[in-house]
Amino acid sequence: MDANNFRRSMLDRLASETHVTKLHAWFRLTSFPFEAVLPLVPKEGAIYDVGCGFGLFSYLLAKDSSKRRVIAYDPSLEKTRVARVLLAGLDNVTVFRPTDHFPRSRLRPKVVVILDVLYLLSPRKKRFLVRSIFSRLQRSGTVIIAIVPKEPSWRYVLSFLQELLVVKCLQWTTSRMNIINFETEEFLRRILSDCGFVAIQRHRLTAPFPFFHRHTLFVAKKL
Ligand SMILES: C[S@@+](CC[C@H](N)C(=O)[O-])C[C@H]1O[C@@H](n2cnc3c(N)ncnc32)[C@H](O)[C@@H]1O
Repeated sequence: MDANNFRRSMLDRLASETHVTKLHAWFRLTSFPFEAVLPLVPKEGAIYDVGCGFGLFSYLLAKDSSKRRVIAYDPSLEKTRVARVLLAGLDNVTVFRPTDHFPRSRLRPKVVVILDVLYLLSPRKKRFLVRSIFSRLQRSGTVIIAIVPKEPSWRYVLSFLQELLVVKCLQWTTSRMNIINFETEEFLRRILSDCGFVAIQRHRLTAPFPFFHRHTLFVAKKL
């Protein structure tokens, strides 16, 4: 599915949602290069999308290969409600909400994807999440994490101001701690390594025109 078809199908599926939801989803779809992440995910096996938001990437994962078993999770009840609307009819994806019982013992993921979520957590929670993912992953499993790296650049300043608007003013995004806490690439590399991940690779992602965000994708393995 090319980028335009992907965006169109997502917005069609959200046709009955509020204008705010559609605007938020449109912004996410046009500013983040989901298609660039897709080839890094194996075509089969259990894939967790942690902090799935509206489930945009979960949709792409599930639609691209029916052999993937996608588990999407987000702590926002509203986001997961919308994700269930968006993902309706896809048999290989399940959306979990904080109120659901999560069948922990059976579902060991082959890949865990976390796209633009860590900036909402404190340093201690980031470390805790990465460590929990390490312990849940299958052997030879992979974690894929997208961040906007904290760095001295106008791109970073604009990203920070955007999140100030989205998280603090509009409250479109859930931050339980009410913080915006972007991390440097070095910080993330260090916690991945401290938690036991190896073969840590870094990829630069370019935001689609005319967006300014600089995303970095970390891909790391559990032996
Ligand atoms: C910028 S959105 C990204 C959503 C989605 N990953 C995407 O790429 O479209 C950040 C998401 O992280 C979720 N989130 C906030 N705190 C979280 C936590 N502690 N664990 C997992 N997700 C969290 C928010 O509810 C929100 O949906």
